[in-house]
Amino acid sequence: MGFSREIRPGVFSVGVIDWDRRLFDELIPLPDGTSYNAYIIEGSEKTALIDTADPQMTEVLMKNLEGIGLERLDYVVTNHAEQDHSGSLPTVLERFPEAQVVCTPRCQKLLEEHLRIPAEKFETVEDRKTLSLGDKTFEFIYTPWVHWPETMSTYLREEKILFSCDFFGSHYATSDLFADKRIIYEPVKRYYAEIMMPFRAIIRKNLKLVEALDLEMIAPSHGPFHDDPSFIIEAYRDWSSEEVKNEVVIPYVSMHGSTKLMVDHLMDGLIARGIGVKRFDISGSDVGKMAMALVDAATLVLGTCTVLAGPHPNAAQVAFLANALRPKTKFASIIGSYGWGGKTVKVIQDMMPHLKVEMIEPVLAKGLPGEEDFLALDRLADEILKKHRELGIA
Ligand code: FEO
Repeated sequence: MGFSREIRPGVFSVGVIDWDRRLFDELIPLPDGTSYNAYIIEGSEKTALIDTADPQMTEVLMKNLEGIGLERLDYVVTNHAEQDHSGSLPTVLERFPEAQVVCTPRCQKLLEEHLRIPAEKFETVEDRKTLSLGDKTFEFIYTPWVHWPETMSTYLREEKILFSCDFFGSHYATSDLFADKRIIYEPVKRYYAEIMMPFRAIIRKNLKLVEALDLEMIAPSHGPFHDDPSFIIEAYRDWSSEEVKNEVVIPYVSMHGSTKLMVDHLMDGLIARGIGVKRFDISGSDVGKMAMALVDAATLVLGTCTVLAGPHPNAAQVAFLANALRPKTKFASIIGSYGWGGKTVKVIQDMMPHLKVEMIEPVLAKGLPGEEDFLALDRLADEILKKHRELGIA
């Protein structure tokens, strides 16, 4: 079973909705499934497919292509080499041996390495080059690092559609073609947090390229399309800016309740001082939600108990992820308890070299926290408020 839909004259959505997938990259939770969007563009002289699908969904993609009666394919535009969009490419090329793969030179190299596609199948394009399908014209716009080095976007001039692949995408399975703004904000933010956030600076540059286009639609390769491009561009502008919010993210893990008591106390103190708190019990919590919280927050406070003289492994995982995601967080601290000693603070600090944060004095309690520890937590809350005020956000 398959289906396709014509979204504009000669522009067909032929991608696959993956309602049941619950994990991406064996790491990222997919509470709402995902989709691998692909598009057939029929010009008066040539026909192109933009992106393909995850290899597990090749059969569905092929049925969708068959469903629109596709007999000949001149080009497969590959905006991004990652397998969830390129994985069906070998089968597509087998079925349509006349097709050339159109991509950036870096993408060609990656596709040769990952999928063993022979060099003669490629037609590489330079930044801003055009390709005519007859009455339709592609303009290829290099948008690197969204989120691999080879990524580009494809602009269909006549229809004013930007096919942006992962850029502006969301892991959100829906039968709706177009994004409902009330619903899609969170899935798109989640996607940005998990995939795009580490490349914030270059995303700002890419946004300027997109803003300069005459756009009626952005069609990413995950999730619904944006028929109001300004909505998603504005959201990306906000998230990728250096502006932070008067918020503290507190991921924590507590074995015997002492660290939890400290988190409770700090949280109450922060809220009483007018600071927003996003708190996560790390054990079993959704890392995507935590990543989303890190998009905006000015401060990260990691709460951890002590295991074998270091942080709990779950807290270490959060430190590793935060370091990899490189949020724009300005301040950080560590709170927690220990039984007899340890090097928790040093271990965590050493795990986060990419976070450009100012460390605020950690608070570690021996065993059950006492009056002195709670006073230290009050001082931490005061210090966070002072730092936020200096930034003009509190
Ligand atoms: Fe959706 Fe980077 O692949």
